[in-house]
Amino acid sequence: MDSIILGIETSCDETSAAVVKNGKTVLSNVISSQIDIHKKYGGVVPEVASRKHLEMIIGVIDLAIKEAEIKKEDLTAIGVTNQPGLIGALLVGITAAKGLSISLNIPIIPVHHLRGHIYANLVEHELTDFPILALIVSGGHTSLAIWHNHLNIEVIGKTLDDAAGEAFDKIARKLGLDYPGGPEIEKFAKHGSKTDLVFPIAKLGKGSYNFSFSGLKSNVINYINKMKSQGHNIVIEDIAFAVQEAIVSAVVEKVMLASENYGIKKVVIGGGVTSNKYLLKRLEEEGCKTGLQVYAPKGIYCTDNGVMIGSAAYYLNQFGIKGDLFLNAYSSGDIK
Ligand code: KG4
Ligand code: ZN
Repeated sequence: MDSIILGIETSCDETSAAVVKNGKTVLSNVISSQIDIHKKYGGVVPEVASRKHLEMIIGVIDLAIKEAEIKKEDLTAIGVTNQPGLIGALLVGITAAKGLSISLNIPIIPVHHLRGHIYANLVEHELTDFPILALIVSGGHTSLAIWHNHLNIEVIGKTLDDAAGEAFDKIARKLGLDYPGGPEIEKFAKHGSKTDLVFPIAKLGKGSYNFSFSGLKSNVINYINKMKSQGHNIVIEDIAFAVQEAIVSAVVEKVMLASENYGIKKVVIGGGVTSNKYLLKRLEEEGCKTGLQVYAPKGIYCTDNGVMIGSAAYYLNQFGIKGDLFLNAYSSGDIK
């Protein structure tokens, strides 16, 4: 029997539902983004996010089922993000999933959001020879993990303060650019060039796979303030170039270090920041030198979406992983 899974994602500012057949075939992917609402605040406002999810969730699920050209009754399971994320936002998706699970009498499968970003890769790529490295860089997370198998994803490094996307967003805001800041900085960096301006990467001890980006944010703010106080103009394009260079270098350095130390020659990437073309280019260039193969999901599956949750739920379901009606939301927690 075919597995037809509804994947629901509401952990941050995207209300998304998708129908995925047998873990690979995407029958629909509906994403309702709240970006325009949060733009005016310069970042995601949790309470506003929960209310918007509540308003959208039923319509988004109905549309995903309609676009998949199936009936609700054809669904065999529901995958839902239950952590990490904004509690109020997660609860909207979980509650909708529970309602459907009861009415259709099908299992509900809790999916860790970062697992989802990793599994977005399985929609397009055949990846079976574990272990594989996994890099997740998004607005809320920056983690490097060893993907041992479907039941064991071992996090070996994570950010000690801001996530990479958060750094892009905060710095962009300081530069007067729109939210989300990552795509804005990438856009401006394309018109910038390498100057003497270099922002240092945090050194966290030899062999550490952790990240730290809050110092970068302070350095950029200090630089802007200093330039302004001395009556100089700032060139946003060149600052964007230097910021992107610093964040990308920090991330690429840790991936290469892990690949070398663990002898792993494949890496999957995921999360909003991996839509950054320069990051992919740098990883591929460095990977080429050592034989590390880089796998990325296509653009729409890099940022938050229901497909990645449906895909991850498919593999968890194969191992009998299920939730129940006591399923709860958690704001944090390692990949399960
Ligand atoms: O994965 P995602 O959609 O949501 C979270 O789980 O956080 O990631 C959103 C983050 C934002 O911080 C955004 O600025 C960043 O991804 N982002 C980018 C790019 N596109 C999105 N960062 C750098 N370059 C991009 N092109
Ligand atoms: Zn995400």
